[in-house]
Amino acid sequence: MLCGFLFVGTALKAIAPMQSLPPEQACSSFLYLLQKPTMRKFYLAVIVTALCIASSYAQKFTNLAPTPPMGWNSWNFYNCNINEEKIKRMADAMATNGMKEAGYQYIVIDDCWQIARDKDGYIIADPKKFPSGIKALADYVHSKGLKFGIYSCAGRLTCQKRPGGAGYEAKDAQSYAEWGVDYLKYDWCNSEGMSSQVQYSTMRDALHKAGRPVIFSLCEWGQTKPWLWADSVGQLWRATGDIQDRFEIGHGVMKIFDEMSLIRQYNKPNAFNDPDMLEVGNMGLTETESRTHFTLWCMMAAPLIAGNNLATMKKDILDILTNKAAIAVDQDKLGIACFLWSKANGIETWIKPLADGNYAVCFLNRGGSAATVNFNFQQTATDPDFHKSYTIDGSYSVTDVWGNQSLGTTAKPLTATVKKHDVLFVVLKKK
Ligand code: GAL
Repeated sequence: MLCGFLFVGTALKAIAPMQSLPPEQACSSFLYLLQKPTMRKFYLAVIVTALCIASSYAQKFTNLAPTPPMGWNSWNFYNCNINEEKIKRMADAMATNGMKEAGYQYIVIDDCWQIARDKDGYIIADPKKFPSGIKALADYVHSKGLKFGIYSCAGRLTCQKRPGGAGYEAKDAQSYAEWGVDYLKYDWCNSEGMSSQVQYSTMRDALHKAGRPVIFSLCEWGQTKPWLWADSVGQLWRATGDIQDRFEIGHGVMKIFDEMSLIRQYNKPNAFNDPDMLEVGNMGLTETESRTHFTLWCMMAAPLIAGNNLATMKKDILDILTNKAAIAVDQDKLGIACFLWSKANGIETWIKPLADGNYAVCFLNRGGSAATVNFNFQQTATDPDFHKSYTIDGSYSVTDVWGNQSLGTTAKPLTATVKKHDVLFVVLKKK
């Protein structure tokens, strides 16, 4: 609108003096005017208007992820060893084990489902691993009341050297729409010399044009700071390299949590920082570490994309993945990621403002031995990025998320012991 006014205003101003001239004079005056600064303004207005029109047309699907997406993805557990039977088994498990009721929706096949392109450039699924085809698999997932997701790459080849999407965006988007794809994870391997903003925007527009609403999950590992530009492109963007199923070593849970705390202010409904898929229940984490990992992802308002074997997991792991109170913190409609409130005696205290004036608080012991929490809630917590202060008084109930019990109120200080690599995760509710 504003662009339109600017354009019309500048154009009228520029041509106003020519209106009373005979045609031949008007023509030479026009050529003369082209070199004048006023006309440069005119050109500028034309360009700005064109960009405005283009950007109002080019947009992601709206409101597909008001809260962080929840689902399962094949990569962390299966890597390339996928086939349609395995994916179906995961859909069966999610539909029947309580995960669906807890809010998990998407079953996403990661890399290695694709094998080649046909003579017209359309992507072909590996017929050995997916003999029934992707549409049949999507139909199966949908028949379980779930949604279906797929993976490709903005580069020439995927990370496992399958055909990538570069140059084939419209055809791929068309296939996805025909198959019933609801979620696309789009990687960044083999993209040398390409611009991430151009590649991802091209795919966004192709998806939009194909007409089927698709959550667009960017996966360029934070290399070109997607938190600064991708909120108009996708619903989530990977902000770091690949997660490892480790707690404090390598690129594990703690490392990613620390990296994410630096960009927490960019998290918001329909535009989430993605600290990568969950390793909850995978081999390299103890059960305590899995619970801490899940807690921190909920505190960050991160997408909850499980990455373990849903059909064989122990009940304790299922209990972590389906804890209602923890998920409610993750799915809180404000979409604000936690910030560090205080640090003392080996305990970090993180706080996440929730809708309705409530709070989630996580006492994190990342150290190698037990530590003691001794915390007076009646203080002010200042959000360092939004420069906002929250003052807690004594009128909140304190509920232990994992212990599922009341810990009294904020009227009294809280004292507790937190084991190594563990958390005490509480919700403060205004009484
Ligand atoms: C990586 C991506 C992983 C997984 C893998 C598949 O680039 O970060 O999550 O998708 O590619 O090859």
